Amino acid sequence: MINLILLGLPGAGKGTASEQIVDKYHLTHISTGDMFREAMANKTKVGLEAKSYIDKGNLVPDEVTAKLVEERLSQPDIKEGYILDGFPRTIEQAEMLDGITKRLNKPLTNVIALDVDEDTLVKRLSARFMCKNCGATYNKISKMPKVEGTCDRCGSHEFYQREDDKPEVVKNRLEVNEKMNAPLKDFYQEKGLLTVINGKQTPDKVFEDIDAVLSNNK
Ligand code: AP5
Ligand code: MG
Ligand code: ZN
Repeated sequence: MINLILLGLPGAGKGTASEQIVDKYHLTHISTGDMFREAMANKTKVGLEAKSYIDKGNLVPDEVTAKLVEERLSQPDIKEGYILDGFPRTIEQAEMLDGITKRLNKPLTNVIALDVDEDTLVKRLSARFMCKNCGATYNKISKMPKVEGTCDRCGSHEFYQREDDKPEVVKNRLEVNEKMNAPLKDFYQEKGLLTVINGKQTPDKVFEDIDAVLSNNK
């Protein structure tokens, strides 16, 4: 059983690595960012509340986020384990997650942190674009669609830039997340769960390193 947290600053490659992990290990991918974006698109109560934080690059309140995660982790489809991508992001959330995993009897097995320097993150985020139809992620520098203007996954021709990838928001987003980055790593280091991986390598090499960790505890 693998129950994994992927830690990493905005643009570190959590979503990219999650796709590769899901392909091989069939884990359920839980991205709080993706869940909030879906809620915003559907204009649900949570979505409307979250939007005021996300569009400025701030964190959604811990209670709102933790509730969403507990509901998702309670669903019956999580059989072969889960990946938490983008949660927890504060020590308070990490402590709430301790309670959630105990209540649901789904203990963490690994925490993997993707380390990438700030200059690289800024470049990646400003070059990222998404498919409007299916949410697939691309990058002007490192990951163009195979056929220009056509989504590899769904064939759609419409793309957009995330509101929070605009330069004026990215700066605050990085600052907000950097504050909690080291304390979170320490929190899981002390529990003996943490592995740090160099996220500046190519996506395939990043996955190779993750795979080496996960294949040890299947
Ligand atoms: P979220 O959507 O999670 O955003 P984030 O943490 O800022 O992370 P990103 O999705 O931007 O980056 P990523 O690490 O997934 O990188 P990706 O693989 O796309 O959260 C959004 C917002 O929601 C938050 O700001 C907050 O407001 C709210 N929120 C979410 N969770 C919360 C929580 N727990 N508590 C409170 N609020 C919360 O890669 C980035 C780009 O780089 C892509 O273009 C990709 O193609 C490229 N790339 C990836 N890997 C590589 C590589 N190895 N080499 C070269 N390019 C690469
Ligand atoms: Mg992501
Ligand atoms: Zn698509």
